[in-house]
Amino acid sequence: MSTPDLDLSSVRQLVAGAVHSPDFRRATFGGAVRGAKECPWVRVVLRPVDLRGERHVQFSYFDRTKNVTKNCRETEADGPLTELLDFGFAGIHLSTGGEEIDIRTSKKGKVLLGRRTVEPLAADGPERHNRVKDVPLPEGRADRVLEVMGILTADGRVRPTMRAKYTQINEFLKHLTHVFADAGLGSLGRPVEILDCGCGSSYLTLAAHHYLNDTLGIPARVIGVDVNEEVIRKSTERAGQLGAPGLSFACGRIGTVAAKPDVVFALHACDTATDDAIAQAVTTGAKLLLSVPCCHHHLNKKIQPVGPAAVLGPVLRHGILRERTADLVTDTFRALALRIMGYRTDVVEFVSPEHTARNLMIRAVRGAPVGEPSFVGEYLSMRSFWGVVPYIEQALGESFRRLLPES
Ligand SMILES: C[S@@+](CC[C@H](N)C(=O)[O-])C[C@H]1O[C@@H](n2cnc3c(N)ncnc32)[C@H](O)[C@@H]1O
Repeated sequence: MSTPDLDLSSVRQLVAGAVHSPDFRRATFGGAVRGAKECPWVRVVLRPVDLRGERHVQFSYFDRTKNVTKNCRETEADGPLTELLDFGFAGIHLSTGGEEIDIRTSKKGKVLLGRRTVEPLAADGPERHNRVKDVPLPEGRADRVLEVMGILTADGRVRPTMRAKYTQINEFLKHLTHVFADAGLGSLGRPVEILDCGCGSSYLTLAAHHYLNDTLGIPARVIGVDVNEEVIRKSTERAGQLGAPGLSFACGRIGTVAAKPDVVFALHACDTATDDAIAQAVTTGAKLLLSVPCCHHHLNKKIQPVGPAAVLGPVLRHGILRERTADLVTDTFRALALRIMGYRTDVVEFVSPEHTARNLMIRAVRGAPVGEPSFVGEYLSMRSFWGVVPYIEQALGESFRRLLPES
């Protein structure tokens, strides 16, 4: 519901009311009103935090390159809040346990108010409540970003057709948080740079940006890359709609877009695009790679039951067994290549198979010795057993080949 022509003091009252309400969740301020005094911040996010048993309000101020976070006791929050409101932000979004409030100031200075009630979380009983709490981007309450992405309805329910994608992105983000500190990403002193390779409709791209910046308060810039012009056009449009600073998209092949990411994602990047994403991470020195491969055509066409692999003739005879063998062999080569290039690598199930059959994740953290002889030996033995040169070798190029003694 929208109400035109709200006055400034009502805006201040609404904001203060939300921030001081016991079920306050988040307030976001962004966009400049025409003629307002110059503001050093492109976005400011407020959320409640509990420090030493006392409720505080955390103010996160974002400019284009960094963020500054300040915590103040809730009883002392009105001063910084007034300073903030004096800048006259064009968009203010308030989120409490029971209500989502949107305050927008038009170019002509008209203040428009949109409010809608949302169901309280705990009303659904313990089972649902646990599920809500345990995932990075919970359902059961309104979330504008997930709504714009088409995943949640306005009242916070997952659209039935989006359940699998919703689960995939939540599980992916869990893996990210699990290895975040171990990869040295918690102490960069600057925003984390993430590159999402083969971003497609950008569900993961937007979700990662939202989760890190808005939920965890970790400044992060995310770039989505895809060869498909149409998905990039739509994703750019969505990012504009959300007004999310530090979120951008580029149309091009993986590896051709200039970027020096700390983290590389590849969720279901087709066939050898996964190898290109691995090469992008390695050659730019990314601290972390999270890759969930998709189809594997390259080796499927090459593996033959000849030489030492002749014994596997009965396996390669059947299409489905051949396909699965090629999948396993391809991902084993990838994991080994990453180990050789100095990444601590493991291969894990990233989500239950009911949400996608392509559910294996290669997780690699930089920081191991480069060219470890035992891994080089394993790699060469595998290559000679199968009589193939996997595409990962081509993607990694000379810096990889020179670590293989026989080349
Ligand atoms: C199956 S979709 C996955 C999209 C998204 N990551 C997701 O999981 O929702 C694969 C995407 O990779 C893109 N792609 C394939 N090869 C690529 C390449 N070499 N460079 C960039 N994008 C590529 C495709 O255009 C497609 O959008």
